Amino acid sequence: MKIGVVITGSFCTFEPVFRALQQVKSEGYELIPIMSENAYHTDTRFGKAKDWRERIELLSGNPIIHSIPDAEPIGPKGLTDLMVVAPCTGNTLAKLANGITDTTATMAVKSHLRNGKPLLIALATNDALSASAKNIGILLNKKHVFFLPFAQDDPLGKPTSLVADFSLLPKALAMLKEEKQMEPLLLQKESSK
Ligand SMILES: Cc1cc2nc3c(=O)[nH]c(=O)nc-3n(C[C@H](O)[C@H](O)[C@H](O)COP(=O)(O)O)c2cc1C
Repeated sequence: MKIGVVITGSFCTFEPVFRALQQVKSEGYELIPIMSENAYHTDTRFGKAKDWRERIELLSGNPIIHSIPDAEPIGPKGLTDLMVVAPCTGNTLAKLANGITDTTATMAVKSHLRNGKPLLIALATNDALSASAKNIGILLNKKHVFFLPFAQDDPLGKPTSLVADFSLLPKALAMLKEEKQMEPLLLQKESSK
């Protein structure tokens, strides 16, 4: 199966997402990498954009889709069976919830969903329980859209932050094929269990 992997600008989660993608790839899925403009071009303290691009292309064996014209054919040409946005920023989440398509990431999702194929969102944003909460609500209620289970990563230090448990990605993708939401959606933070 071909999985569209849409990577957006939650740079601090690139490393755990990458580890999860290695696992997914080892299970025999083909990875079609797609990056938002911010994810594709931005150097941060979590790594240089060029280094991340190289690692992602090496892992997937496919070129990264990083422009709206290159993302548009995903639906018409049936390039993806499943799609995951991992990591998904609050910014991309807001656009998806409100039908805004002005980045490679949102174009890829729109193009994939037009064929009624399933989408998994692996959230990572500090405002999940504030500004982004309504967008999570909108997408929870949308057909073909599922969430990777998430937890408050630092309830006292960052009380409105939620981050998906990326290590669950292989399992959630298996369920995504059946259009099933992995449960429990709401996880306990590892250290507070
Ligand atoms: C170092 C760094 C880390 C960031 N981490 C996050 C994050 O974890 N979650 C998030 O929603 N935005 C994060 N951002 C902000 C996004 O990159 C920013 O909102 C950007 O516009 C997202 O664009 P995109 O959704 O098209 O990738 C971070 C920015 C920087 C510079």
